[in-house]
Amino acid sequence: MPESRIARPDLAPEGHRKITWAWSAMPVLRLIQERSRARRPLSGITVGACLHLEAKTACLLKALKDLGATVAATGSNPLSTQNDVCAALVEEGISVFSRRGMDSSEYRENLSAVLSLRPNLLIDDGADLVALVHETMPHVAEGILGGCEETTTGIKRLRAMEKDGVLKFPMIAVNDAYSKFLFDNRYGTGQSVMDGLMRTTNVLLAGKSFVVAGYGWCGRGIATRAAGLGARVTVVEADPHRALEALMDGRDVRSMEEAAPIGDFFVTATGNIRVIRKEHLERMKDGAILANAGHFNVEIDIPALEELSVSREETRANIETYTLADGRRLHLLAEGRLVNLAAADGHPIEIMDLSFALQLLSSLYVLDHPSLPAKVLPVPGDLDSSVAELKLESLGIRLEVLTEEQKAYLESWKE
Ligand code: ADE
Repeated sequence: MPESRIARPDLAPEGHRKITWAWSAMPVLRLIQERSRARRPLSGITVGACLHLEAKTACLLKALKDLGATVAATGSNPLSTQNDVCAALVEEGISVFSRRGMDSSEYRENLSAVLSLRPNLLIDDGADLVALVHETMPHVAEGILGGCEETTTGIKRLRAMEKDGVLKFPMIAVNDAYSKFLFDNRYGTGQSVMDGLMRTTNVLLAGKSFVVAGYGWCGRGIATRAAGLGARVTVVEADPHRALEALMDGRDVRSMEEAAPIGDFFVTATGNIRVIRKEHLERMKDGAILANAGHFNVEIDIPALEELSVSREETRANIETYTLADGRRLHLLAEGRLVNLAAADGHPIEIMDLSFALQLLSSLYVLDHPSLPAKVLPVPGDLDSSVAELKLESLGIRLEVLTEEQKAYLESWKE
């Protein structure tokens, strides 16, 4: 068994079942793996991953191992780790350091444990692994050829590192590829956030006032799906173009101050800090439901919620009910951590098939191009397109092929 620290090795059979189910709906990842298997491009390489450890992620980690890599992984959020999946991964020969509910010092120890295995390639979701190497284990950076980042928040942090001149190796911005954000951030978050809300609360969305903070690709997806379920959607946005876009998409657009007293549901998806603050919490209706879909649990000001409340109890799994001095109750889901992963299974399988296909192709790209600069780099356009093409192919959908005349027309400036 590989070096590991997990909670429930006995849960491996259920983990294997979940992984098998996910694998059956990941044709793109399967195809890429099959295509590369003969040359075992990852032999001799140790991959260190910090990802949401659930079944689709397990499929990526298994594919990396199958292509020759030694793989070590930790969870990228204390509540998104699924213990049964971790147990199955260990049986598959993958080092796992994680458990659902780990506290922040354990979280950090697990990141360090992955880095202690001296990875050559990092796959990060939120940039915690990359940040820790730079902050506390710079000697490990010497052996790192580069890596890939999954999410908007992580890319924001990596760009800040690049700007400060500290980033020591190339990082591919998987999040910014079309085959990622158009589908994962929008349809993935849209569906999985509804899944998290519905599993957790079991209450009706139709006819309710639903406030979405942030109208990036995730916020757009959440707003669309909430409206599709019959909710009346309000968008809170600080960027004028996005606010106008929300308005023209038919949403009600307000400040958080205005939205606070009307919302039945509040979902934050901004990537920013303290989006829902004390002054907003003070104005909310009795029974309002608060959830976060952003990477970190900083969007809802939980210390302010604690300060305002006279009592707190777990009213249902993943629901913490805070009672305020005047008797109003505010329900916080999944401790303000990303509700789609902490209280559900994350994005749908077919969506993560695209995102993880990009992760795999980008990892191979880093290894095949040893002299990339130590910057945040885009996924090459041909790799990005190939993922969408493979997905269409797996669905038996043909693309229109331009005629030579059409290609010439598009490239010419003469009529
Ligand atoms: N499953 C694994 N990683 C995920 C992510 N970043 N977002 C949603 N679901 C996931």
